[in-house]
Amino acid sequence: MSQSTTINRRIVLNARPRGAPTPEDFRIENGPVPEPGPGQILLRTLFLSLDPYMRGRMSDSPSYAAPVGIGELMVGGTVSRVEVSNHGDFKVDELVLGYTGWQDYALSDGKGLTLLPAGDPHPSRALSVLGMPGFTAYMGLLDIGRPVAGETVVVAAASGAVGSVVGQIAKIKGCVVVGIAGGETKCQYAVDELGFDFCVDHRADDLHGHLAAACPKGIDVYFENVGGAVFDAVLPLLNAKARVPVCGLISAYNATELPPGPDRLGLLVATLLRKRIKMQGFIVFDDYGPRWSEFAGTMGAWVQEGKVKVREDIVFGLEKAPEAFIGLLQGRNFGKLVIQLANE
Ligand SMILES: NC(=O)c1ccc[n+]([C@@H]2O[C@H](COP(=O)([O-])OP(=O)(O)OC[C@H]3O[C@@H](n4cnc5c(N)ncnc54)[C@H](OP(=O)(O)O)[C@@H]3O)[C@@H](O)[C@H]2O)c1
Repeated sequence: MSQSTTINRRIVLNARPRGAPTPEDFRIENGPVPEPGPGQILLRTLFLSLDPYMRGRMSDSPSYAAPVGIGELMVGGTVSRVEVSNHGDFKVDELVLGYTGWQDYALSDGKGLTLLPAGDPHPSRALSVLGMPGFTAYMGLLDIGRPVAGETVVVAAASGAVGSVVGQIAKIKGCVVVGIAGGETKCQYAVDELGFDFCVDHRADDLHGHLAAACPKGIDVYFENVGGAVFDAVLPLLNAKARVPVCGLISAYNATELPPGPDRLGLLVATLLRKRIKMQGFIVFDDYGPRWSEFAGTMGAWVQEGKVKVREDIVFGLEKAPEAFIGLLQGRNFGKLVIQLANE
């Protein structure tokens, strides 16, 4: 695969979605490859991470981070190669982890870039198990979930970037692990490849019944990635003193109104009180930034030892990013979704 060395393609936000994003909410713009000035480097994007939080950046409702403006570049984590360097700390051909967004090329003054190890055979893992999603799984499960050997840990979006790592860490900690995923293939993968004890298909009938059967001793830790109908099935199964790290609520990211049916807030709060459940949200870098090196060391070793496996869903071509992102919000990805823009 090759990309132009003279044109920089950029995907910008064309319109704010109402409900699920559509291809028309994005626009591709062609411009010249920028020229690095003194102290700058020119980066060529090799891999772009697509993540659910980007749906939030497309809206202008209040959030923990500023929205992308109309006509502005879509944001995103990237692995890039140094093409030209006028900066003493970076050499041509080195690979860096950065946040340079949905574009072929970017200029940088080096701030916020992390050098990746030379000769790394899997540089895209800096965006998956060894990057933000892996860090999210590690901190949310270990710091808020605090799993104890023998306890039952349930995680939804179980074959995805965060959920797959949550379940594998919980197995390392000696827990019984039950995944929830969309469809038989993803569920089978969670059990056969990732070593989960059970996995329940949230698209099949009677999610609550199947989950109850998979968790005969109830649920001690529920790692919340999804919300909605999945949480409704989990809530009655939570044990006294259960912990619920609230990581994401992807089922609601495209919602334009509250779900139909009776208000369930009273039931939730009464359950939290009666069962003394701890439910805590977190935003990984805001809350745990200083613990990055602890994570990197531990996770790096687990991956090397084969204790944590990774599946990446790599889609080729920047122009495919909008469609792939739309699919992520519908469960069409299988593993960590990454766009590859150029050969390594
Ligand atoms: N708090 C933080 O700092 C932080 C950081 C990173 C990620 N997150 C959150 O973590 C969650 C997982 O992110 P990820 O990057 O690991 O994504 P992912 O699991 O790789 O991909 C998203 C998955 O969500 C599932 N999904 C989508 N719509 C759903 C629905 N209506 N009901 C049930 N499942 C649905 C789909 O899996 P199935 O086909 O299996 O349903 C889809 O494949 C997201 O909520 C994300 O926002 C939070």
